[in-house]
Amino acid sequence: MADFTHVYDAPPPGANADWTVPQKWDAFSADEHAMWDRLFARQSEMLPGRACDAFMRGIDVLKLEKPGIPDYRELNERLKSATGWQVVAVPGLVPDDVFFDHLANRRFPAGNFIRTPEQLDYLQEPDVFHDVFGHVPMLADPVFADYMVAYGKGGLRSLGFGALHKLARLYWYTVEFGLIEEPAGLRIYGAGIVSSYGESIFCLDDPSPNRIRFDLLRLMRTEYRIDDYQQNYFVIPSLEHLLKVTIETDFAPLYAQLESLPDIPIADILPDDDVITRGTQAYAYAKAK
Ligand code: PHE
Ligand code: FE
Repeated sequence: MADFTHVYDAPPPGANADWTVPQKWDAFSADEHAMWDRLFARQSEMLPGRACDAFMRGIDVLKLEKPGIPDYRELNERLKSATGWQVVAVPGLVPDDVFFDHLANRRFPAGNFIRTPEQLDYLQEPDVFHDVFGHVPMLADPVFADYMVAYGKGGLRSLGFGALHKLARLYWYTVEFGLIEEPAGLRIYGAGIVSSYGESIFCLDDPSPNRIRFDLLRLMRTEYRIDDYQQNYFVIPSLEHLLKVTIETDFAPLYAQLESLPDIPIADILPDDDVITRGTQAYAYAKAK
């Protein structure tokens, strides 16, 4: 996940100027590879019928079912021939401009560590399982691949408008927590969901969250939470729609407009919303007590 809140001033010792580090695949221990396998088995058993077509295809095309943490030398060959993207290793979260520059150049930075057994269900910084299992299958889809490039360029541009805070919501509610309406029903494409066992079930089956059809301006007014399951999911009709709307819209006037519009409290539904599910918010309210 990228929550765009961390500030660093320089790459740590051993890292390159663009914050990348060698993956050192051979240095992962048997326990670390076993942790990947455990997470992979748990997710891949549950995701058919939940994850979208593009995600399932990505797992296949990239041969992610091969046991162990993927070796980027192999993974990148497949990913590169699919969409020109590459995965690069980084020590952890990187500064916003560095992150966007990588995306704009078809490089996805992945945290070069894996969670411990105590962190099976929750961790604060994205690890290699979230970054590779969650994000990389979608990067093998040509439309989504182009969306992520456009987002990187848009991210760099947003810095000049001081509008990253608004644009970050687009990343959050699409790349991390997006749902898509497919002929067979609602499906997941967001990396924050597909890499989480609990949220992969919650986001589709639980009556608690709102599920609202995607509207760019509405979405960029909506607060989000980073500490628990989402209270809203925004649902796109197709990846093509997401790409088209975001590349055809000049965000500069949108950022200006957003400055005069109030943020929308996290669980509110507006009269103009195209609502698929009006959530009970029971899950969030029970936790708040
Ligand atoms: N069209 C956006 C802009 O003018 C760039 C962008 C594309 C942002 C895709 C996000 C996603 O800034
Ligand atoms: Fe992520």
